[in-house]
Amino acid sequence: MKIQKKCVLPLDKRDLKVYICGALKNEIMKKKLVVLSGAGVSAESGISTFRDSDGLWENYDVMEVASIEGWYQNPELVIEFYNQRRTQLANVVPNEAHKIIAELENYYDVTVVTQNVDDLHERAGSTQIIHLHGELTKVCSDDRKKHVSDIGYSTFKFGDLAPDGHLLRPFIVWFGEDVPLINKAAEIVSQADIILIIGTSLNVYPAAGLLYSAKNDAQIYVIDPKEVQPIARRVVFIKEKATSGMKKLFRMIASKDFVIK
Ligand code: OAD
Repeated sequence: MKIQKKCVLPLDKRDLKVYICGALKNEIMKKKLVVLSGAGVSAESGISTFRDSDGLWENYDVMEVASIEGWYQNPELVIEFYNQRRTQLANVVPNEAHKIIAELENYYDVTVVTQNVDDLHERAGSTQIIHLHGELTKVCSDDRKKHVSDIGYSTFKFGDLAPDGHLLRPFIVWFGEDVPLINKAAEIVSQADIILIIGTSLNVYPAAGLLYSAKNDAQIYVIDPKEVQPIARRVVFIKEKATSGMKKLFRMIASKDFVIK
């Protein structure tokens, strides 16, 4: 009934009506797919992961640059760390995996829940993205993260102030801080028909626990070249890098013969 109401058109537009009704129906009928992505999805774009042998936490002390205590101890170091990440981000581009995830919107109602602070999912064309750990291209006030603003790929320095007079800081969720979007993400995961976990070692909570909000019959896929933390659910594991793994998964779930059980 809802579909018919939305499609009240003059008679001479009957063909258009059929077309619009079909399109609306397709949108309404699309199954829900949630992508839980981590640093590995951006690795082939040239952004280091955190916990691999060449990862960022090999060269930096995570508590010095990515914790709230680190911010209070040495804010200059923290700002410099994120300035470098932001400058690097300006010089990389989305890879095939990001693009295929965006392409999946033609087949599914896709939400990307990412732990990544880069903007490569956006630049690849994904339209529904939750950044659990914040966004590199934004800064905020040191006072409860009020006054969030976009600075793109530019840098800022210690002492720069937000409109409320408090220090500007990176708009990042650090260790020791709460994750404001976790409940929204859990709600979205709980409605998913398909869940894709890609490029995350599942070491960091609460993000790693999101999977357990999934319905019992949700189909779960994991793409990662290495073993990830054990998952107490039946999953299809595609042990490949993000780009080749996504090509394989796309052939599987975007085929007309694919049925969600
Ligand atoms: P990790 O570095 O912990 O895990 C990266 C995962 O990506 C590993 O499982 C790798 O095997 C996999 N990987 C590496 N190369 C890949 C490729 N080409 N294709 C696909 N997968 C690949 O990164 P995250 O799990 O994202 O938080 O880390 C979670 C959080 O820990 C981050 O958001 C960050 C970090 O500390 C904060 O800084 C708050």
